[in-house]
Amino acid sequence: MRRAVCPGSFDPVTNGHLDIVGRASRLFDEVIVAVMINPSKSGMFSVPERITMLREVTTDLPNVRVETFQGLLVDFCKTHDAPVVVKGLRAVSDFDYELQMAQMNVGLAGVETLFMPTNPLYSYLSSSLVKDVTKWGGDVSQHVPESVHRRLRSRFDSGAQPE
Ligand code: PNS
Repeated sequence: MRRAVCPGSFDPVTNGHLDIVGRASRLFDEVIVAVMINPSKSGMFSVPERITMLREVTTDLPNVRVETFQGLLVDFCKTHDAPVVVKGLRAVSDFDYELQMAQMNVGLAGVETLFMPTNPLYSYLSSSLVKDVTKWGGDVSQHVPESVHRRLRSRFDSGAQPE
């Protein structure tokens, strides 16, 4: 069983995330989307909401499952018998920090990281931008799945502020 982990905050999942998860699901027998629990940052959506959205938008990918983790990513990988992390790289600006984490993770536990170039359609996308644009009334419907778009709109209609 070749198993990989796609980790992140996913607050909320965007089409860019989905592109990476979908492509990873064609390369591995199983992909675990791992939603990080960060107690010092509440985020816009709760972790259960993020999981619900991720499950909704990955129903057509039978070898993808969604889990959460708190603590070191390499510990999650070990517990789930996943030797590989898959990360999307949007631009050179992502590279420095991603490289540091990849080198740390291989040093800590031998967990490898595969970088996947983001589809150019999504290279400027981030969860933070999507929240900010929605907050000011911009249309992000082409950047997030429909169910996420609905939730974003109703969250901002009820007066939420992006982090
Ligand atoms: O979507 P994000 O916020 O860019 O995801 C970052 C994430 C969750 C992949 C990263 O912060 C992480 O791996 N956190 C877990 C804690 C950890 O293992 N830290 C050491 C990394 S070398």
